[in-house]
Amino acid sequence: MINRKIVMIPGPTPVVRSIQDQMGRDTCAFGDAAFVKDYKEVIDGVKEMFQCDGQAFVLAGSGTMAMEMAIANSTKAGDNMLIVSHGFFGDRFLDVIKRKGINVDIMQSEWGKVFTPEEIKAQLKTKKYAAMTVTHVDTATGAKAPIEEIGEMMKEFPETIYIVDGVAASAGIDERMTDMNIDIILTGSQKAFGVAPGLAILCANQKSLARRKELGDTIPEYFIDYEKWIPIMNDPSKYFGTPAINLIWAMQESLRIIKAEGLENRYARHKKISAAMRAGLKALGFSILAEEGHQAETLSNVLYMDGVDDVMFRNLVQEEGIIVAGGLAAYAGKMFRIGHMGNVDTHDLISSMAAIERTMYRMNLLKKEELGKGVAALMQGLVD
Ligand SMILES: Cc1ncc(COP(=O)(O)O)c(C=O)c1O
Repeated sequence: MINRKIVMIPGPTPVVRSIQDQMGRDTCAFGDAAFVKDYKEVIDGVKEMFQCDGQAFVLAGSGTMAMEMAIANSTKAGDNMLIVSHGFFGDRFLDVIKRKGINVDIMQSEWGKVFTPEEIKAQLKTKKYAAMTVTHVDTATGAKAPIEEIGEMMKEFPETIYIVDGVAASAGIDERMTDMNIDIILTGSQKAFGVAPGLAILCANQKSLARRKELGDTIPEYFIDYEKWIPIMNDPSKYFGTPAINLIWAMQESLRIIKAEGLENRYARHKKISAAMRAGLKALGFSILAEEGHQAETLSNVLYMDGVDDVMFRNLVQEEGIIVAGGLAAYAGKMFRIGHMGNVDTHDLISSMAAIERTMYRMNLLKKEELGKGVAALMQGLVD
């Protein structure tokens, strides 16, 4: 009997049937009046969700495009920029920025740890930075940055655009631009929104929109220029680039699901399931890379005990029906990464833990009479 496969990597995440149905609809003309209304609803919904006082952009693309869009509309060649990196995706900003003639400083934490607002403040005091990036959750480490506390500290640096990469956090962990003093949030559709990959999402507050104006009539980038898209975001019956129609419908359904659940409830659910998943993993003898107090609600990066063959482990977990991701860079072969975000349900979580246990049994890492230890700890956390 072949097990059905559940994708539990940290994005893309399981896409529920009602969202899949939207992607399977007959594609209409982008000027179709009903679609124009749907697109506007999505743009307004995103804006409201992130408490954005400026402009939301929902475009065909991936998270990386939104990263580049944030930089392109905040800085010009010769500016200083600070990257606060807690891992692989924080470092990616360096790749983006290096091409643009921007003077960049990067703070790189040990993987699994995050910088405090005080440490960042000390760096910000050394020169005038046009912009700063912070990755809310670095998917390579599972560590969560204190974006709210950093935002509070940023009030002392009003000339710096505070950019938060929410790709592995948005819709699973609280992100409110006005309350948290964030100027740009960028994200994608494929993680805690529970939509298939393909949408880049960016919210820019009034300060960010004003910075774009200061950069002049044109910037070197074309497709990701705020100014090209603002007229379309305000009136999606206008054309600049063909919208990803079916993904916009999928996003509309995702926002409907989020609204029905309630944002507060959704964030609380992510807290609960992440704690329960980690309790189960720890009961099985694993440890978590991210330090206590900074472990993300959306995914866990799980360190193997000595002697576990990563490829064999992940292949067997896959045979048991669950797909998890491997570690990146120095952690390749040393850990696996599992997502627990978006529209994952209790069945997904319990099946994942049980598949991990069956794998451990097959690899002689768990005795027959020990089977159920992880699931028991998980379920105790879920009913608490
Ligand atoms: C934190 C973070 N930022 C940016 C990205 C890049 O997004 P994408 O792969 O959609 O381009 C990812 C992808 O996993 C991510 O996890």
